[in-house]
Amino acid sequence: MTRSVGWIVLLVSSYIWAADARNGALVLEQQGCQQCHAVRGQGLEHETPVIARDLGERLAPTYGPHTLASALWNHTPAMWAEFSARGITAPAATESEWRDLFAYFYSLQFFEPPAEVGRGKQVLESKHCTSCHSLSRAATGRGPSVVDWAQMDDPVTLVYQLWNHASSMKNAFARNKIEWKTLTGRDLVDLTAYVQSIQNLVPNRQFSLPGPESGKPLFDANCGLCHRDSLSLAMNLRNKTWMDIGAGIWNHSQKMPAVRMVASDDMRKILAYVWQLQYDGPPGNRVLGQKAFIEKGCIECHRSPFKDGKHITAFSIVAAAWGPARYAHHQMLERGLPWPNLSPADVSNLVAFLNSRDSAR
Ligand code: HEC
Ligand code: HEC
Ligand code: HEC
Ligand code: HEC
Repeated sequence: MTRSVGWIVLLVSSYIWAADARNGALVLEQQGCQQCHAVRGQGLEHETPVIARDLGERLAPTYGPHTLASALWNHTPAMWAEFSARGITAPAATESEWRDLFAYFYSLQFFEPPAEVGRGKQVLESKHCTSCHSLSRAATGRGPSVVDWAQMDDPVTLVYQLWNHASSMKNAFARNKIEWKTLTGRDLVDLTAYVQSIQNLVPNRQFSLPGPESGKPLFDANCGLCHRDSLSLAMNLRNKTWMDIGAGIWNHSQKMPAVRMVASDDMRKILAYVWQLQYDGPPGNRVLGQKAFIEKGCIECHRSPFKDGKHITAFSIVAAAWGPARYAHHQMLERGLPWPNLSPADVSNLVAFLNSRDSAR
């Protein structure tokens, strides 16, 4: 990953978000997954393993921790049999290692593509930005020249600038009868690289985002009025990169009657929060979780289930089958009990149930 020239998002660890995709790549190696699975066509040696599917591919159309947890949990008996048959040591990663591993798989698909400076210039031209923003020092008189834009440190700066100038640009579009255009996440990445090049900035391909929980109050204040119920972003957004979300923000700024100004640091926090929301997927349902807990037989052993205060995530479920607690769960196999399959929704619901206070008693 570090080899890529795309933007690398450095994540500040926080209570919810402590995943590190780069560590995930190491975990993948240590756990020997590539003895049986290719990852983007790559095995351990030169040969591509063909025993099981490529882990670089998306497991399901919506790819989240709960889909990976469900797949890993459900394949436990078959994978375990494969390990014994081949005399291979089974993976035994911890909960946080599984979290990093997933972040790595996710990053293979949904992190920003490498920026293309030349394409950034084409975007400015094809999206009519150059009708008002000249690429040279000589301004068009309709808007500031691109060289004179505020220093473009990273793509989040662009998202912030687009949002906060949206109202005045809207007026300028109307005045000059220029058609407004939407942008994609990739457009924003390429645009930023191009602007950096003409601003003679040393390309900095790393940036950090704050802990997502810091964005919640800001999101609630600036966006939450609209984005709830049927417009809930946790329900509607899937498989997005940071800049897909940035583009989503720009793409509705021109339809809004009024755009509330957001401070630069606050936009960073909001973006971190929204991205995390869609990464985690929709929250589960406690009541359905309790039902699954009973029907899937967890209740056979977990009458008063979890240590006080332990926060359960989809990765706790993975670790129950593939981490330190696996011996307990594999007793089900040893006793010849049918292994209870868990759908992705079951995983989310169980997590919601196990974190609810009632279950802690
Ligand atoms: C000994 C060979 C072997 C190793 C090593 C191995 N797996 Fe598997 N894996 C399999 C087999 C075989 C299947 C298919 C099982 C089935 O058909 O139910 C599978 C299935 C899976 C699936 C489900 C895929 C789907 O189609 O839904 C996931 C996810 C997975 N493995 C992840 C991993 C990860 C992550 C590692 C390393 C920590 C790993 N595997 C290591 C053999 C292996
Ligand atoms: C109709 C004219 C017009 C078009 C077309 C236009 N803009 Fe603007 N833009 C403006 C004006 C006017 C401002 C200054 C607004 C202000 O001062 O609040 C501005 C400001 C900006 C800024 C902030 C610049 C700074 O000072 O740092 C950015 C970034 C920007 N525009 C990007 C774009 C992009 C990207 C496009 C194409 C998708 C675009 N603009 C299309 C008129 C336009
Ligand atoms: C006035 C109501 C309103 C406010 C305020 C608002 N949005 Fe939206 N947003 C919408 C609507 C409606 C849509 C979907 C329709 C559209 O794209 O225009 C949307 C779409 C989006 C999308 C794209 C969703 C997709 O499916 O791709 C993102 C991302 C987004 N909003 C983020 C934000 C953020 C972040 C804020 C706060 C800074 C915000 N919105 C404030 C109404 C709002
Ligand atoms: C055969 C008995 C048994 C069954 C059935 C069982 N568990 Fe467990 N589970 C245990 C034991 C014992 C532990 C503690 C193991 C340890 O800490 O090493 C545990 C630990 C866990 C943990 C880890 C908790 C932590 O504090 O890290 C999770 C998560 C979990 N189980 C989920 C489930 C779910 C979900 C089901 C139902 C699908 C289930 N278990 C069914 C015996 C069982």
